[in-house]
Amino acid sequence: MANVTLKDVYKSFGKNEVIHGINCEIKAGEFVAILGPSGCGKSTALRMIAGLEIITKGEISIDGKIVNELEPADRDIAMVFQNYALYPHMTVFKNMAYGLKIRRMPKNEIKKRVHNAAEILELTEFLDRKPQQLSGGQRQRVAMGRCIVREPKVFLFDEPLSNLDAKLRVQMRLELRNLHENLGITSVYVTHDQVEAMTLGDRLIILEDGYVEQIGSPLEVYERPATRFVAGFIGSPSMNFFNVRLSTDGRLVELSGSDSLPLQNGAVPGYGGQEVSLGIRPEHFKIVEDGDGVIQIKVDHVETLGADTLVHGHAGEDNTFLTVRLPDIHHFQKGKVLQLAVPPEKLHLFDKETGKRIEN
Ligand SMILES: Nc1ncnc2c1ncn2[C@@H]1O[C@H](COP(=O)(O)OP(=O)(O)O)[C@@H](O)[C@H]1O
Ligand SMILES: [Mg+2]
Repeated sequence: MANVTLKDVYKSFGKNEVIHGINCEIKAGEFVAILGPSGCGKSTALRMIAGLEIITKGEISIDGKIVNELEPADRDIAMVFQNYALYPHMTVFKNMAYGLKIRRMPKNEIKKRVHNAAEILELTEFLDRKPQQLSGGQRQRVAMGRCIVREPKVFLFDEPLSNLDAKLRVQMRLELRNLHENLGITSVYVTHDQVEAMTLGDRLIILEDGYVEQIGSPLEVYERPATRFVAGFIGSPSMNFFNVRLSTDGRLVELSGSDSLPLQNGAVPGYGGQEVSLGIRPEHFKIVEDGDGVIQIKVDHVETLGADTLVHGHAGEDNTFLTVRLPDIHHFQKGKVLQLAVPPEKLHLFDKETGKRIEN
């Protein structure tokens, strides 16, 4: 187990800067997910930790030791990729043993480690099979096994589940989490899938365009997103956003064509009378009788999913499109007007210019 620290880490490819200063401390034994849309710099960040990409500026340390100049092989890390490329002509045993063999580890030790890893991954009965005789999930586990046998200080994962079908992904997600709980090896896991990041990570590093938007636990990023980007990226369906004006005393959100919504803690310093971006998650609306602090929406269409119902509609004079998620099954005609309330603590405000969260 080792901690991993990134200090002011920058990366440019030629003149093109793609990572603009990452700072984070990954604790020993922690599982951290790097989450962000395609092209935001996740793989680059991971490859810099692995030593596969030279860093342009800054410092990376593993287990308290600066590794900027260390070769990948000397960093005590193991990496699992999306394309895990097992050797097709080798058995499962040989696939797992290969890395140790080229390191000239004694045969007994190799055998011990492979059997141990196979046990953990429930692959013991498949050790003599070739990869093509395995299911996708089993192959993925062999790829994991290859890493486990090396007993690294840090595991690095780059979207290891993206090639699997949806059901298998869910199963492997649970297996990975279990594995982490059993082995306790510091892990950095790159994904664009927010559910994967939320369920696997002790903490998330949310990247956008090479900038760190927020670092926090899954609940922190869900409940208190630091930026409008994070707010829209975390949660499915996405948070709804409205352009609103705060009252001059900064106490109320004034929605066009609807009532005012009271803010939880009252006045927002510096924002009285200003336009801000209001965010409300689909699951935080409640249908109410007409009353105070109510948003009216006109139903466009309804998706009944069984466990819950998604209502898509629009609200206000500027016809802001929004999605509401209600538990259970509901049927509403197109054009029906619903009255919705939102608890004040579920209102998120963001600066229109900077996108930064405004505490209220
Ligand atoms: N070897 C490279 N040379 C030039 N640009 C690269 C290279 N690798 C990645 N990039 C650029 O860096 C940015 C981040 O890429 P990447 O880290 O692969 O994103 P992600 O893994 O989040 O999809 C992208 O704009 C990509 O085009
Ligand atoms: Mg990538």
